[in-house]
Parts: sequence; structure tokens; C-alpha cells
Amino acid sequence: MNRTEQNLHEMILRNFKEAVVFADAQERIQIFNPVAENYFQISGKQAQGRRLERVIPYKNIKKHFDSVYENKESNHDVELAIHRPSPSSSSQEILILHCSFYPVFDRKGDTFLGCLATFADITEKGLLLREITKSRDLSTIGMLARWMAHEIRNPLSSLNINIELLREELGEEVELSQKEEIHSLINFISYETLRLENNLKEFLDFNRLPPLKFEWISLNEVLDSVVRLLRPDAQMKNAKIETHFQKKLPMAKIDVSQFNLAISNLLINCIQAVSEKGEIHLFTRGSKKNIFIIIRDNGIGISKEHLSKIFDFMFSTKPMGSGLGLSIAKKIISDHHGEISVKSELNKGSIFRIRIPIGQKSN
Ligand SMILES: Nc1ncnc2c1ncn2[C@@H]1O[C@H](COP(=O)(O)OP(=O)(O)OP(=O)(O)O)[C@@H](O)[C@H]1O
Ligand SMILES: [Mg+2]
Repeated sequence: MNRTEQNLHEMILRNFKEAVVFADAQERIQIFNPVAENYFQISGKQAQGRRLERVIPYKNIKKHFDSVYENKESNHDVELAIHRPSPSSSSQEILILHCSFYPVFDRKGDTFLGCLATFADITEKGLLLREITKSRDLSTIGMLARWMAHEIRNPLSSLNINIELLREELGEEVELSQKEEIHSLINFISYETLRLENNLKEFLDFNRLPPLKFEWISLNEVLDSVVRLLRPDAQMKNAKIETHFQKKLPMAKIDVSQFNLAISNLLINCIQAVSEKGEIHLFTRGSKKNIFIIIRDNGIGISKEHLSKIFDFMFSTKPMGSGLGLSIAKKIISDHHGEISVKSELNKGSIFRIRIPIGQKSN
């Protein structure tokens, strides 16, 4: 290859929107473009000449490279999920990749040179886009439930089988060679779990909660009934919930049951956050155009690092938390054309503020 040709190849790889990786017949990296650097968080320079599994340390991806090395056949359109360290924080983020793997031969076609792979990030699009489009006519919650059950059952049953296998493995004495196998089983389990998480995210994102039924109602009354329902939970902790409602608050146009759900999720978090003698205060205020609901607790508070993430789907700091409460609350508030914000200080408490516009001509 002359210099111009080489430059051209480099420019093509540099501008490619997908990650392109080529590992030679000895499984050493020879091509690693900038998008690959970003996905796998290692520079092209460092990757060059290194063994594949050191550069891309994901068993689920390695398995597909191995299959090309063994069978010399390509494998297209595979969807794989990886957990990679997040560049912005100490936590991990999920990347869902659409991948293809190809064997590469010399000009004569008889000598195998290595494996070329491409990866495209489809995390945003979501795994289930196709299924969602197909099922656009799903309208009743019953149909939806069946669809979700179906989506959840398949990964769950394979999860269970793998957990059983894992248990068997762990039952016997673990030798070094078995560790490999255990790791690959664990990887499989975590991939399937990611798939589940993704399906659930799609479920919420695609607006498949029951359609909103708006009615004009007194917000004070709605909030009062939620508080009455949750007061025993607070009392169990020797904590109290107090309401400070503005008299003659303007009526609001809301879906009562969904609004109940949003407020309950917020109050439950407050109850969980306070200790003995904790206090939770609920205020309402009206202005010309808006109604404000303020929920304040003197609980454990939220660290600066977590504050920007608490409304994220499945973000939780609780050992048994699913991290759904606030993302559902946020979705419901935004379906009411409102906003929710938070201020918090560690070990002092948190304040959640909701704004709901009055008389919004909603659907
Ligand atoms: N009032 C609060 N005080 C302190 N931390 C809070 C409060 N509300 C929310 N958080 C933090 O935000 C995270 C996300 O809350 P969210 O309600 O979405 O999930 P969760 O309570 O952990 O689980 P789930 O509500 O699904 O049972 C919590 O894990 C917690 O760290
Ligand atoms: Mg919660």
C-alpha cells in the first residue's frame, strides 16, 4: 500500500460513525478507530498490537470473535450489552451495541488474516423499537401486561437456568479452569438482566402507562388522602407528616390516580429517608398560573454526586430499591405539563418542588 492509499484508509476509518476493530490471526489488534477508542475506553496507540481480550475485556463480545476464528464465518446484526466505566463518574454505564463480525482472507481467499468487527451504539434507540412499532395497536393494559410478561419471561427463564448451572459449579470445589466458566455464566446473567432493564425502560418511555383521565379537582383533597394513607408508615418510624395547605387553592386539572402515585412515591422516599422523630412537611401554594407543591423532609439528604441522577430510570442507592419511584413521578408530572425539582443537603434533608400549571388545555 502506498502513502496516499494508507492516508485514505486512515481517513475512512477516522470518519466512520461505527467502531471498527480488526484483530489479526494471532488475535492481536491491528485496527482500532476513534469510535472504538470511545466505546472501549482505550486509545488506539495502547490497543495496537495488544491481545484482543486485553483491549475488549467483554466475554460476550469475545465469544463472537472466537466463533469467527473457529468457523471462519461471519456473524451479523448481533445485539450485545456491555457495562463500561462511565467517563463522568465512578459508576458504570450500559452500552447496547449492534455488532457484526467478519472473517478476512487474503486476495486469493485461502489464507485467513483475522477478524474484522463493527459496533454501533444503539442504546438510545433501545432494543425493542421494532417490537414497539409492531405492537402500536396494543392499547389495553391487559394486552400490555401479557406483552411485558412475554418479554420478561424469556430472559428470566434463561437467567434461571444459568443461575442453576452457576450454583452447581459453585457447589463443587472451584478450580482455576472452572473460574473461566463461572465468569462466562455470570456475564450471560448480567447481559440478560440488562435486556430486562432495557425492556422495562422502553415500557415507560413509550408512554404505555394507561392514558391520562383529567378531571378538575381540589389538589388539597387529593394530597390529604395520600397523606392519610401513608401516615401509619411514618408513625411506625415515630416520624410525622404535617400538611400546610393554602386555603382556597385554585382547582387543578389532573389525573387523580396517577397524581396519587407520583406523590406517594415522593412521600415514601421521605419516610424512608427520615429517622426517629423525623419530620415531613407538605405545602401547597397557588399563583395566577401555577400550583406549587413542596415536600420537605429532614432525612439523610442526597449527596451532590447523586443529586443529578435521582430521577434516572432505575437509579437507586437503596439495597432493595428498584429506582423506579422518582422516574415514574417525573413522567407523571411532565404528563401534566409540570416540573419537578429538588434541593438537598446531606444529613440535613431534601426539598422536592412540583409546579403544575392551572387550566392547561391538556389532552
Ligand atoms: N427524600 C429523599 N431523601 C434522600 N434520598 C432520596 C429521597 N428521595 C429520593 N432519594 C434518592 O433517590 C434515589 C431514587 O429514588 P427512587 O424513588 O427513584 O428509587 P428508590 O426509592 O431507590 O426505589 P423505589 O422507589 O423504586 O422503591 C433513592 O435511592 C435515594 O438515593
Ligand atoms: Mg422510592
